[in-house]
Amino acid sequence: MSADQTPIVEARNISKYFGGVIALKDVSMELRHGEVMCLLGDNGAGKSTLIKILSGVHPPDEGEYLVEGRTVHFTSPRDALEHGIATVYQDLAMIPLMSITRNFFLGSELTQGWSFLKRFDIRRANCIVHEELRKMGIDIRDPAQPVGTLSGGERQSVAIARAVYFGAKVLILDEPTSALGVKQAGVVLRYIAQARMRGIAVILITHNPHHAYPIGDRFTILKRGRTLGTFTKAELSRSDMIQMMSGGEELEDLERELREFREQASSRSAETPSQEEPGGFGEESG
Ligand SMILES: Nc1ncnc2c1ncn2[C@@H]1O[C@H](COP(=O)(O)OP(=O)(O)O)[C@@H](O)[C@H]1O
Ligand SMILES: [Mg+2]
Repeated sequence: MSADQTPIVEARNISKYFGGVIALKDVSMELRHGEVMCLLGDNGAGKSTLIKILSGVHPPDEGEYLVEGRTVHFTSPRDALEHGIATVYQDLAMIPLMSITRNFFLGSELTQGWSFLKRFDIRRANCIVHEELRKMGIDIRDPAQPVGTLSGGERQSVAIARAVYFGAKVLILDEPTSALGVKQAGVVLRYIAQARMRGIAVILITHNPHHAYPIGDRFTILKRGRTLGTFTKAELSRSDMIQMMSGGEELEDLERELREFREQASSRSAETPSQEEPGGFGEESG
C-alpha cells in the first residue's frame, strides 16, 4: 500500500465503557488523506466519545488506534497535537473579551515554545491572523477586536484557521454547526471545504444530515455505540442517511404523535374562544 492510501487515522474495533454504560462497542473507522469524513448519529450515539479517543482525551478500553499506519497510545491531547491531530470543540475555549489575535495564539506554546509569547510581537501577530483568515475567505475588519464581537460561525472559523496555521494534518470538528443558523452554518461548511482544499483531512461530527450531505465524502453512522458502517455518497442517498440516523420507525411514531397533538389542540380551540389581545405577538414591528 502506498503512503497516500494508508489511512491517516484509523480506529480498529474500539470499545469504551463508562462504568455500566457501553459508550462504544467494536467501532472501526478510517480517515483518508484529503477527505471530509462525517461522523453521524443521534445524541448519545458515541460520536464525542470516539473523537475524544482520537484526540487523546480518553484511552480506548479495547481495540487499536493507528495514525498513518502506526499504532499509537495517546495519553493526552498534546500527544494527538504532536501527530498533527487538532480538535475544535463546540465550546471553543476562547476568551470573549480578548482580541481575535490573542485568542488565535492562545495555547500556541504547544508548538512554538513560551519564548515566542514573551516576545509577542502584536503587530506581526495581527498581520498573520488577518492573512490566515483571508486565506480562508474571512475578511475581518480588525484582528484587535474582541472575539466576543464575532458571530458564532466566524468564531468557529477562527478556531479552524488557527488549527490549520499551527500545522494540523487532521482536523476534528465536534458539532461546529449545531448552534448556528442556516447562513452561519454555511459559512463554517465553506471553511471546512477550504481546509480540505489545503490538504487537511477532516472528521466532521454532526447530527444534521443537511449539513453533512453537501460537504461529506464519506459518512460513518453510529447508533447506540455501534457503527452501522461507512458509506460513500454514491452508496447513501440523503433520505437513506436520515432514515439510518434517527431510525425510520421513531420518526413515524413522532409524526403520528404530533398529528394527534394538532388534532387535540384544534378541537380544544374550537371549544374555547380566543383570549388573545390586540397588539400581542402577532404585531411585532421590525
Ligand atoms: N465521561 C463520561 N462518563 C460517563 N458516561 C459518559 C461519559 N461520556 C459519555 N458518556 C456516555 O456515553 C454515551 C455516548 O455519549 P457521547 O459520546 O457523548 O454521544 P454523542 O456525542 O454521540 O451524543 C452516552 O450514553 C453518554 O451518556
Ligand atoms: Mg457529542
